[in-house]
Amino acid sequence: MNDFSFYSPTRFVFGRKATDSVGAELAASGYTRALIVYGQGSVVRTGTLDRVKKSLEDAGIGYVELGGVRPNPEIASVRAGIELARENAVDIVLPVGGGSAMDAAKAIALGAVYEGDVWDFFRKRAVPTSRIDVACVVSLPASGSEASNSCVISNDEEQLKCGVTTDLNRPVLAIMDPELTFTLPPYQTAAGVTDMIAHIMERFFSGEPAVPVTDNIACGMVRAAMEAAPRVMEDPEDYDARADLMWIGTLAHNGLAGCGLGIPGKRDGDWSCHGMEHELSAFDTTITHGAGLAVIFPAWMRHVWPEHPERFLEFGKQVFGIEPVDPEADGVDIEPELAIGYAVEATIDELQEFFVSLGMPRTLTELGMDEDKVEKLLPGLEINRGKAFGTFKQLTLDDAREIYLSAL
Ligand code: NZQ
Ligand code: ZN
Repeated sequence: MNDFSFYSPTRFVFGRKATDSVGAELAASGYTRALIVYGQGSVVRTGTLDRVKKSLEDAGIGYVELGGVRPNPEIASVRAGIELARENAVDIVLPVGGGSAMDAAKAIALGAVYEGDVWDFFRKRAVPTSRIDVACVVSLPASGSEASNSCVISNDEEQLKCGVTTDLNRPVLAIMDPELTFTLPPYQTAAGVTDMIAHIMERFFSGEPAVPVTDNIACGMVRAAMEAAPRVMEDPEDYDARADLMWIGTLAHNGLAGCGLGIPGKRDGDWSCHGMEHELSAFDTTITHGAGLAVIFPAWMRHVWPEHPERFLEFGKQVFGIEPVDPEADGVDIEPELAIGYAVEATIDELQEFFVSLGMPRTLTELGMDEDKVEKLLPGLEINRGKAFGTFKQLTLDDAREIYLSAL
């Protein structure tokens, strides 16, 4: 087990009607003035925003608001939020929504106390040193942003989508009310499930040796997500399945699923698939992050598995009950190497079929990509990841091109 440092300082208030406790929770911690950040209207339509405002009013917390944050949030709304936060001297930034509202809020929180332009952090021209605190009311289990150390923002002018990773990004509070997720469209539910499984797999397939405690937590969570997902597709108001998914989404990305699997001093996972997906949703901002991952992850797996087949065999066994044919015990005449390859391929196929069964795409063509467009993804990838990246198998930009093209 590799050395690790695990820091998850967020208080999680989880359960039915938790939304209505946000004001009391913030007042109890001494906050007095909030900047509410939300997306393009779902929380208005569902009444969640009104409930949050009432809860703040009841607790004597003042607020200003910034709505209209789009999926794959853009730097312009971050800059607008920074102005608002400064003008109103807010002491807490309060996103109400999914990863996009949460990430916009995190960037506002870093930028409001920085003299330069907040985009500097994303282009690695400056390192954040302080922030305004962030508390989240989560409406979409997917990004895990409510407890993660990262924040991902798009810049349309530069056609880039870049992340900032720092413990300053970890929210102080996450209000997690599974009933808020009853209204999610099936596509967003499916993309969310894909994203949380991807967060677990990025760590599982770090390339480092097995860590039984972490591997069991990881594979157990993937199994639980795969069990809950069809239930919410069937019945969007299945509270227990929604609750399971919500909590898996958080634990998938707060660092728990990577303990002992990271290389000290580096990130706790491979993260190549996230890198390659972010270029897709930077290029076409209508591409949903989870949908991109549903295509990229299996394609990456088919490219890299021979590097560490044992990790794929462990994942296949724990998640799908797939084991290689044993020539002796099963009385089959097959080379062991070939048997391993078949088992790995069956594992990747099962995973991809699961994503597709939820309504996720199988190919990049379905997401509107073609060969010429793939070429346009590579410069951004180089800016964000360099010429070589990944820990399971180090990839070059040529490998990345090959993976994208194999997924068309
Ligand atoms: O904008 P509104 O109207 O609110 O609608 C949203 C949006 O259209 C809708 N929605 C959210 N909650 C809803 C709902 N509709 C009905 N009922 C509800 N309860 O869903 C759509 C997608 O929302 P969005 O916030 O964009 O989705 P998600 O939570 O998947 O976040 C995606 C963003 O997070 C980033 C992604 O790159 C992407 O930009 N990520 C952030 C991470 C982090 N900070 O740790 C890690 C992830 O890997 C990811 O990169
Ligand atoms: Zn993700």
